[in-house]
Amino acid sequence: MSNFDSQSPSEIVIFGALGDLSRRKLLPALYQLESAGLLNPESRIVGVARQEHNLKDFIEIVKENLTKFVKTGLDKDVLETFLNRLVYQQLDFKQTASFKNLAKTLKDGNDTRVYYFSTAPVIFGDICDGLHAAKLITDKDRVVMEKPIGHCLESSKVINDQVSRFFKENQIYRIDHYLGKETVLNLLVLRFANSLFTTNWDRNSIDHVQITVAESVGIEGRWGFYDDAGQMRDMIQNHLLQILSLLAMEPPADLSADSIRAEKLKAIKALVPIDRLNVKDNTVRGQYADGFLKGKPVPGYLNEEGAKENSDTETFVAIKAEIDNWRWAGVPFYLRTGKRMPAKHSEIVVHFKEQPHNIFKDSYAELPSNKLTIRLQPDEGVELQMMNKIPGIASQMHIQENKLDLSFSDTYENQRVVDAYERLMLEVINGNQSLFVSRDEVEAAWTWADGIIEAWEESKEAPKSYPAGTWGPVSSISLIARDDRQWVE
Ligand code: BG6
Repeated sequence: MSNFDSQSPSEIVIFGALGDLSRRKLLPALYQLESAGLLNPESRIVGVARQEHNLKDFIEIVKENLTKFVKTGLDKDVLETFLNRLVYQQLDFKQTASFKNLAKTLKDGNDTRVYYFSTAPVIFGDICDGLHAAKLITDKDRVVMEKPIGHCLESSKVINDQVSRFFKENQIYRIDHYLGKETVLNLLVLRFANSLFTTNWDRNSIDHVQITVAESVGIEGRWGFYDDAGQMRDMIQNHLLQILSLLAMEPPADLSADSIRAEKLKAIKALVPIDRLNVKDNTVRGQYADGFLKGKPVPGYLNEEGAKENSDTETFVAIKAEIDNWRWAGVPFYLRTGKRMPAKHSEIVVHFKEQPHNIFKDSYAELPSNKLTIRLQPDEGVELQMMNKIPGIASQMHIQENKLDLSFSDTYENQRVVDAYERLMLEVINGNQSLFVSRDEVEAAWTWADGIIEAWEESKEAPKSYPAGTWGPVSSISLIARDDRQWVE
C-alpha cells in the first residue's frame, strides 16, 4: 500500500463534475488533499459536465459546495490555491466529436491523467469512445469507475468491456468507497497484525459473524434511481460483500493489489449459492412503510417524493450467507442492511464459541461467549466483550460481562477520521489499486447476488413491510432466531 508520498503532477478530470457525488464527496476530498499538501502544485482539476458554465460560475459552485460539505471548515489560503487549480469544460458526453474541445483544454505533456467517471454507468462507454477519438488516452492514464457497475452480471460485463477496450485492467480503478473507510481498512490490521485473532479466526473458534449496515436516511430524492436497484444491488452486492470478503479471506502474502484482490475473490467465490430452493430460509427482503424517526413522522417508501404507486423494490435485506471452504464451513455470516432504520449504525460482530464447560455456574448460569465488535460508523472503534470478576471479598466469585473498548475518537483524539474518498482519490493519484475492486470480484459478487435476485423474482413474493424507524421486518428476527441466535442491537 502506498505511503502517500508520491505527488506527481496530474490532471484530475471529473466527468459529472456538477453531480451530487462530485459536489458532496469528490471536490471536498480533493480540498482536504490540498489542505494536507498532498496535491502536486502543478496538478489541475478539470470539471466536465453538460451544463453551459464559464470558469467563474464553476468556481462559485465549487466554493458554495465546499462551504457546505467540508466539515473541518475552509482555510482562506488553501481555498485560494485549490480554486486556482480548477478548469471547466462543457461537454455533451454522447457527442464523440465534442471531445476535441476537451483535448484543447487538457495540457499536452507528461502529466498522468485521472479520468473520474462520476456519471451514470450507461454512459461510461460513450465517454471512452470520446476520449479515444480525441486521442486522450495513453498507457499512463487511469480511469475511476463509480458503482453500480451494472444491474446484473451480464450488464456489468458490457460496461467493463466498453471500458477495457481502451484501458487495461491495471489502469481501471473500480470504487467501492467502503474500502476507503478507516475502520474497514483496520480489518486488515486487526486480523493480520494481532496473533490473537490470526490464530482464532476460523470455524474452530468462531460461532458466527453479523454484519449490519443500517441507515436512518430514506431515499433522499433519488427514488427513480433507487427503485431500479434496491438494497440488494445498492449495498449488498458491493459494500457488504467487500466487508465480508475482507473478514473471510485467507491471509494475503503482502499488501499488494494482486495479493489482496486474489484472496478476496476466493472468499466471494466460495459463498454458497442461494437460489429458489433455499432463498426462503436464507433471506428476508423488506420495504419501509410510514413510521417515526426520532419522534417525527416519516413517509413510507411508496409515499416518498417521486414514488410510483406500487413497487416491490426492497429497502431492507437480511441474508444468512455461508462460505464453503475449510476455514468457514458451518459458520454463518448474517448480513443485514436497510434504509430508514432507527439510526446510522454499521458494525461487524464476531461471536466466538461458547466455553465447553462452566465452572462459574453459581454466579453465572450460562457464560456468554466473547464478542469482538468492530464499529464501522459512527463512533468508530473496536470492542472486545469478555467476562471479568467483580472486585470484592465474598467467597462466591461474582463475575460479569465487561468490555475492552478502543474508541478511535478517544484514542486518537487529535486525529481527524479521513473520509473514504480522500484516501481513495490519493490512491488513484499514486497508482495503487489495492483498495479498488477487480473485474473478477465484481463478476463473482454479481453471480452470487443475481442468484438471490432471480429467486426473489421467481417467488413473486412482495417484500415484507416494516415501519420506518425500526430494525426491519419481524421475519429478519426469525431468520437468525431459527438458529438459536439473535441480532445484536
Ligand atoms: C452508497 C449507496 O453507495 O452508499 C447509498 O448508493 C448509501 O444508498 C451509501 O446511502 C452509504 O454510504 P455511507 O458511507 O454513508 O455508509
